[in-house]
Amino acid sequence: MKALLLASLVTPDDLRLADVPMPEPASGEVLVRLRAAALNHRDLHMFNFEPERACILGSDGAGVVAAVGAGVTGWTPGAEVLLNPSLQWGDRQDTYGAGWSILGWPRDGTLAEAIALPAECVFAKPPHLSFEEASALPLAGLTAYRALAARARVGAGETVLVHGIGGGVALFALQFARALGARVMVTSTSNDKLARAQALGAELGVNSRTVDWAAAARDWTGGAGVDVVVESLGGDYFARSLEALRLGGRLVTFGRTVDTRSNIDLHLLFWHQLSLLGSTMGSPADFARMLALVSEHHIRPVIDSVWPLEDGCHAFERLAQGKQFGKIVLTCA
Ligand SMILES: NC(=O)c1ccc[n+]([C@@H]2O[C@H](COP(=O)([O-])OP(=O)(O)OC[C@H]3O[C@@H](n4cnc5c(N)ncnc54)[C@H](OP(=O)(O)O)[C@@H]3O)[C@@H](O)[C@H]2O)c1
Repeated sequence: MKALLLASLVTPDDLRLADVPMPEPASGEVLVRLRAAALNHRDLHMFNFEPERACILGSDGAGVVAAVGAGVTGWTPGAEVLLNPSLQWGDRQDTYGAGWSILGWPRDGTLAEAIALPAECVFAKPPHLSFEEASALPLAGLTAYRALAARARVGAGETVLVHGIGGGVALFALQFARALGARVMVTSTSNDKLARAQALGAELGVNSRTVDWAAAARDWTGGAGVDVVVESLGGDYFARSLEALRLGGRLVTFGRTVDTRSNIDLHLLFWHQLSLLGSTMGSPADFARMLALVSEHHIRPVIDSVWPLEDGCHAFERLAQGKQFGKIVLTCA
C-alpha cells in the first residue's frame, strides 16, 4: 500500500510517498481501509525530532472496515468508521495511565491507504459526516471536548474566550461551546478568519495583533471578565488571559504554539480565585461523549482544504504557514 513515510527528518521535504506492506490485523485488531486522514499541529512537531526508524505520521483517519483479527466482535467488513488516536488511555478519567500514546508515532499512523488498530479505537462514523469530515474530527475534536466539557466544565449561558480561532482545536472549541449553550468570543491574527468564525456562531471576534483583547473580553462581559479561556498559544497569550477572566474564572490550556514559557502574575491567580487547568487529548469515554455531541447537534468539522495523499508535502507547508481555517485533509483512496 501507499503511505507517507517520515524517514530521517528536518522539514516536510523529508516526507516521501513509499510502498509499504499492507498491515495484517493481529488478534483483537481491526483492519481499516482509510478513505481520508487529517493533519494536526502534532505532525509538525514530529519534524523536530529524529526517529530511530521510518514512521507513518498521522493521528486522524476515517474509512471502511476491511477485515477483523481473532476475537473481534461487533465489527464486520464494510462498516464505516473513524479512529480514536488516544491509545491505551487506561482506567482513570482524571488523567491517562503509563501505557498511553498517540497514534502516528511511535505506532504507525493514518497517512496511508490502510491501518490495523485495536478494536477499542474504532468507532462508528456519525452518519451525517462525509469521510473527509469524519477524518477531521478525532484528535482535535477529542482535545477540544475534554478541555471544555471534562476539564473546564463549560455550562449553558457561560462566556468563553477561544484564542487562535484558525486552529483545528480552536474551531471545535467554538462549535462545541456553542452546542453546550455557551456564548463565545474569539481572537485571531487574521480579520478574514474572525469574520468566518462569527459566521459559525462567535459573538465577538478580536484581532490579537491590533486590539487589546483582554480589555475587549472585559467590555464584552460588562466589565466582569469571561468565565472560561481556552488557550493553546502560551507566552503572553497565557499570561494576559488571566486579565480577561472574571473572579473565580477558569483557564484551560492544551498547547504552546507561540511560546512554551509564560510569565504570569501570581497575584491575579490567587487574588481572583482563578483555576488553571491542563488538558491533553482524552479518554475513550470523552471520545464517545464527543461523538454523541457531534451527532446530536449535527456539528460538521470545518475543512480548510482537501489534498491527495501524494501531495502531503504541500498540505504540510500550508499547516506550517498557519494559512488554514479548519482542518487540512488528505484523501487516502
Ligand atoms: N495537548 C493536546 O492534547 C493537544 C492536542 C491538539 C493540539 N495541541 C496543541 O494545541 C495547539 C493548536 O493545535 P492545532 O492542531 O489546532 O493547531 P493549528 O491548526 O496549527 O492552529 C494553530 C493556530 O494558532 C494561531 N497561531 C499560530 N501562530 C501564531 C502566532 N505567532 N501568534 C498568534 N497566533 C498564532 C493561528 O490562529 P489564527 O490564524 O487564527 O491567528 C493558528 O491557526 C498546538 O500547540 C498543538 O500542539 C495539543
